[in-house]
Amino acid sequence: MSENALELIEKIGLLPLVNVSDPSKAAPIAQALSKGGIDAIEVTLRDATALESLANARKALPNALVGAGSVHNVADAERAIDLGADFIVAPGVDPETIQFCQTRQTPVIPGAVTATEIEQARALGLSVVKFFPADILGGVKAINALRGPFADVRVVPTGGINLDNMTPYAENKGVYALGGSFLTPSAAVAAGDWDAITSTAERAVDKMLGFTMGHVGVNCPTADVARAAAEEFAEIFRFNTREIDISFFGGSAVEAMKKPSFGEHGHIAIATNSMKRAIHHLERRGYSFRFFKNNDKGEMIAAYITNEIGGFAIHLCVKY
Ligand code: 3PG
Repeated sequence: MSENALELIEKIGLLPLVNVSDPSKAAPIAQALSKGGIDAIEVTLRDATALESLANARKALPNALVGAGSVHNVADAERAIDLGADFIVAPGVDPETIQFCQTRQTPVIPGAVTATEIEQARALGLSVVKFFPADILGGVKAINALRGPFADVRVVPTGGINLDNMTPYAENKGVYALGGSFLTPSAAVAAGDWDAITSTAERAVDKMLGFTMGHVGVNCPTADVARAAAEEFAEIFRFNTREIDISFFGGSAVEAMKKPSFGEHGHIAIATNSMKRAIHHLERRGYSFRFFKNNDKGEMIAAYITNEIGGFAIHLCVKY
C-alpha cells in the first residue's frame, strides 16, 4: 500500500463492512466491490473465522485497502495487522489498542460519539473517528452539532446507512467516508450473487459523488462582452450577476469568460459532493486531469478533465 491508508479511505469515500461466517466468500465479495469501484473493505472480527476472511480478502486484492473492524483489544489488532490489515476500526476508544496501532504505523478509527469520547480520541492524536450507530444518534444533525466544538474532527458514520438515505452523509463536509453493511447485502452474499454486490457498489459510488449539472462556461473575446452576456442572461431569468477574477456569472447557470479559456466554445462544469473523491473515482476509471484551480483558502474549485466533448472543456466543481 503506497499511499497512506487513511487518506485513501477519504478518497474512496465508502467503507463496506463485511461480516461473513464463510471465509471462502471474502475474496469474491472484495473482488465484486472492486469491480463496482470500491477498493476498500472492512472485515469485522466477530467470529472465529473472521481472520481467515481477512487473509482471503487480502490475498485476493493485494492493492486494495483491507482493514479489520470490531477490534476490541491489542491482541486482535496485532493478529489483524500481522495478516496484512491496512487499517483498524474499533467500536470504542481503547487507548491501549489505539497506541498499539500507532506503534505499528497502522491507521486506527475508533468509535467516538460523545464529546468526551471525541476528546479522548483527539488526545491520542486522532482526527477521524467512527460514528456508530449514526442513524439512531441523529445522523448528520448530530455530526454537525459535534463539529461545532470539534471542527478538526471528521467522522466515518455507520449504522443504518443505505442507498436511500446516504445522500445527506455524502454531502456533509464532516463525513470522512461513509460505511456500512448495505454495500455487502446479506441476501446477495448468501446467494453468491457477486454481480448484485458490484451493482450496489456502483450505485453507491454514483450517489456519493452526486454528479449534477453545474454551469456552462461561454468563451467571450473581452471582459465587456462577457459582462454584457452575463447581464443579458440574468435579465431574462431574473438571476443575479456576479463577477469573479476570470468571468461574470449569470445566476449559477452561465459563466461568461472574460477571455477565451479552455474549450473551443467554452466549458461545461459538472458539480460533485467532493472534488477529492470525484477525482479519485474518475482517475480510477481511466480519465485524467489537466488543470486544477484552488480558491484563496487553498480549496480546489475546478478540476479540468483532459478530454473535451463537442468543443467544450469539462471541469468538476463543488456543489454548494
Ligand atoms: C458497524 O459495526 O459499523 C455496524 O454494524 C454497521 O452498521 P450497518 O450494518 O447498519 O451498516
